[in-house]
Amino acid sequence: MTQQTPYHEDQETDNNTSSNTHFDDILGHYITRRDLIKKTASGTIALALAATVTGCASQGTSQGQQRSSHLPTTKRPEKLSFKPVAKNKLDLISVPDGYQVNVLYALGDSINPNYADWNDHNIPSGPSFQFRSGDCHDGIHFFGLNKKTKRLDDTFSEEGLLVMNHEYINPTFLHAKGPTKVNGHRPEDEVIRENNAHGVSVIHVKKNEITQHVEIIKNSVFNRRITTYTPMDFSGAAAGSPLLATLYSPKALKARGTHNNCGNGYTPWGTYLTTEENFIGYFQRSSTDDAKRQPHEIAALKRYGLKAGSSSKYEWDTAIGQIEPQDHYDRWKANAIAETAAKDYRNGPNTFGWMVEIDPFDIKHNPVKRTSLGRFAHEDSACRAVEGMPLAFYMGDDSRGEYIYKFVSQAKWDAKDTNAGYKAGDKYMDKGTLYVAKFNQDGSGQWIELSYGKNGLDQSNKTYPFSSQADIVTFARMAADSVGATKMDRPEWCSINPENGEIYVTLTNNSNRGKDYATDAANPRAYEDLYGEKKVQKGNVNGHVIRFKEQDDKTTALQFQWDIYLFGAEASMNPNINLSGLSDNNDFSSPDGMWFDSRGILWLQTDDSAYTDVTNCMMLAALPGYIGDGTVATTSNGQQTRVGAKVNDDNLRRFLVGPKEAEITGITMTPDNKAIFVNIQHPGEESESYDKPNSHWPASQNDISNTTARPRSATIVITRKDGGRIAD
Ligand code: FEO
Ligand code: CA
Ligand code: CA
Repeated sequence: MTQQTPYHEDQETDNNTSSNTHFDDILGHYITRRDLIKKTASGTIALALAATVTGCASQGTSQGQQRSSHLPTTKRPEKLSFKPVAKNKLDLISVPDGYQVNVLYALGDSINPNYADWNDHNIPSGPSFQFRSGDCHDGIHFFGLNKKTKRLDDTFSEEGLLVMNHEYINPTFLHAKGPTKVNGHRPEDEVIRENNAHGVSVIHVKKNEITQHVEIIKNSVFNRRITTYTPMDFSGAAAGSPLLATLYSPKALKARGTHNNCGNGYTPWGTYLTTEENFIGYFQRSSTDDAKRQPHEIAALKRYGLKAGSSSKYEWDTAIGQIEPQDHYDRWKANAIAETAAKDYRNGPNTFGWMVEIDPFDIKHNPVKRTSLGRFAHEDSACRAVEGMPLAFYMGDDSRGEYIYKFVSQAKWDAKDTNAGYKAGDKYMDKGTLYVAKFNQDGSGQWIELSYGKNGLDQSNKTYPFSSQADIVTFARMAADSVGATKMDRPEWCSINPENGEIYVTLTNNSNRGKDYATDAANPRAYEDLYGEKKVQKGNVNGHVIRFKEQDDKTTALQFQWDIYLFGAEASMNPNINLSGLSDNNDFSSPDGMWFDSRGILWLQTDDSAYTDVTNCMMLAALPGYIGDGTVATTSNGQQTRVGAKVNDDNLRRFLVGPKEAEITGITMTPDNKAIFVNIQHPGEESESYDKPNSHWPASQNDISNTTARPRSATIVITRKDGGRIAD
């Protein structure tokens, strides 16, 4: 029996070797005749946008991600007033004075009264995890539940469905004695536990109106798990394409399960969007498979990170099926072994990497993979809904040097579709146009259309011979390569400022910036920093947050303006690295999770390994300005860029510091802004083995002297001791 090697999410795929050199040609053909935004001195932009912001303010929440016009109209506070939390390396969650933390839902917790509570010393069976919390909690959203209609109602804070992702697993602590392998095979019970610990949870919660205490209603019919086994439907441009045909669904209309669900999104009609991020590493490909593939197939597999000879991350393909059919394990082998793709799993990887819609109120129908939104390492999605305009979904592809995308629906948003479930998804997410972003040096940018027959996306394309829109969405990265999109520093979460409709995207970091490709105005930093006393870190070490505004404030715009709202940095760094002027009360590194609440407070979360010699990961609250409120600046490496106004302690403050070796990711709130839900992912991630945990959280939250408990990912609820609104 051997121990498996622990996996760290930061082993990101890194497959963008495209040169994007012929963008000028494309630009010449398709862009130059458009009315590009003129280069303007930053002061002029600031004045123009200040006027726009004032004009928009009265439109309130209709600009942003909020679903209903009847949301509480609580105004954004003028300044942040909670006491900032100091950086620390404690094994617990620190929050400001006057706030309290409760652990709501941790790995293995039962969501069905027939299943026993979690016990560190008696790890439940693999199959029982269909009724237990998955691992590595990530994106999350609260849907208010109307008790009469059993559907969404955004005015309800006392009862709701909490939907969240379980991105991956920390096998060291998931199993009784860590992950094992016997005679070359993973034990089936472990593999079933791992499969069930992935996916999504829907849990029914209630909140006490007075104390704000939140608890799970364990016997609710809404409680359910969606896992790597859950049947799903394909819809949109690639549904039925031969590229998605498998033995499981020869007609390419169904897929089995979802995994590596990272950031999330939600629709204005009241459904949840889960993403499939680092899906590729779950597949094995034999070293001889290339001989059975066409050159363009090999190129596509390489571009998505599955070279011949790749082994799978958790080796589920090695299990022997005694409890489940053998097919459940064979499907992780992406090899051409039969005469057609419809008779094997060579296309298995093409059935993941999509945006998946889940209606938490609909327990009958399958979740739907919305293929028109493209296939890549989907991190997150923010939907901008303005009545009478097409919807825009903004999305990041989180790998080094990947792109930012937008999908614009053909249908115009009609609020009467609220609560129309998957039918609304069919209407707004299947027909529309996919675009990729190009950021220019002068603060302007373009959305370049990724449609079959346009911008060189056809059979003659040298990157991939596209013969349909199904080809384009399935290999969206290659379509984006060939139109010269801007390589970004790992696009993570997207969110929309409800005050003015500006779109924010976190760019978490990029060790390749300045090495494999040069800096540019939108990804302007490449520098060196010491971790501890000796380890030198390079590239964009601490990440940044970019924001953009669509031309004429339209979701359908083909041009936008951008600047960089915030640069991660250590407070003590040189001002040409610490360009946002961070202080000890708000310095941070590697922004990842990010969300505007209904008042317009921006919450920023970190998944860091660059500043963790000094502090654990954290969450900050921010009151951002608007595009153009800053200046043109020059970085330490001499790159000119556009930076937003410097921050101060009144408009950016550290609200939370997490336990040891945990990422802070996933955030949502009850509509009354009185309970905030945050996910704590993989505490003790670097532990060597199950019996030597580096963290004992969540047990350590109430007993810091605990030295025995297993670390577990969990959802926490933070409330104010006086029952008031968070950060108000
Ligand atoms: Fe799963 Fe990009 O974080
Ligand atoms: Ca450092
Ligand atoms: Ca993330």
